[in-house]
Amino acid sequence: MSASATNPRLQGEGEILRTQDARDLGRIEDPTVQAVIYVPPVLPDWFSELAAEVEAGRFHVPRTILPKVSYEQIKKWLVYNFPVTGDTSNLREFVTEDILALVDRIAAISGASRFMLRTLTSIPNTECGFHVDTVPPAAVPWGLLRVYTGFGTAYVNPSNVTSMADFYRYLGRRERLGRERAQARRDEDLGRCNELDERIQQLDKRLTFLRRPDEIHVAPAGSIVQFKHLDVSLHWSSHSTSLAWIHCSPMSGGPRFLVNISPDEPVSSLSARRKYRRSDMPGSTDPNSRSNRLPLK
Ligand SMILES: [Fe+2]
Repeated sequence: MSASATNPRLQGEGEILRTQDARDLGRIEDPTVQAVIYVPPVLPDWFSELAAEVEAGRFHVPRTILPKVSYEQIKKWLVYNFPVTGDTSNLREFVTEDILALVDRIAAISGASRFMLRTLTSIPNTECGFHVDTVPPAAVPWGLLRVYTGFGTAYVNPSNVTSMADFYRYLGRRERLGRERAQARRDEDLGRCNELDERIQQLDKRLTFLRRPDEIHVAPAGSIVQFKHLDVSLHWSSHSTSLAWIHCSPMSGGPRFLVNISPDEPVSSLSARRKYRRSDMPGSTDPNSRSNRLPLK
């Protein structure tokens, strides 16, 4: 295993692993691991073609959330909704195949057959600051994020967080300012918008929930991040910092294309049918593994 922790293992805080070995993604099952960031040593050629198409606005996917969908439903949606673009006619197929491999990876590790798929192309903005992603109550919490193009995703180590209470204080203020700014936009009150922009910027400059505010890390574009989503019933509570990955999309730079997939069914419906064996895990050396027939990039 080539994974290395970016912070010491501290009881109750969790750790974040960075690795160039896809097999390490399975280490998210360890209760002390909050996120695993797999950075492929080399990306397939089509990534640069996709980046150019996204940058030019030809590969455009509107913000989409598909709840409780199966592998086959996701496949059908991708085929019917992803744009056909690029110099090679295969770009859509490459992207689709890659996303389906991510779905298969989530299925393999969680046993889930229903998923939440979130995808979009977007220009970075200041709508969203540091936050945690959530899953429905009692769902398997391991989600996957892949940013295909644009700047990567910023995150902080759990050991750098003073407390979840401090984090939620920041998040509550930021969400309130965001709502007020949205109202000011609806009111076409430019002065109020500018004032709220400034206050949001100041809040994001002084990250009061961090012990070391300058210590921000980035999961680069192309990486696959397997990370803990928070059970939504715990959101806003004073839970352990190990339970969710605190992260933030970039607020400037070129357009991004990303996909986020998480299980979308309660653990109770999974326990009776954990249908994938460990040898089915992506990266397994078992040649008959279903996942070994899928691209590992
Ligand atoms: Fe997120």
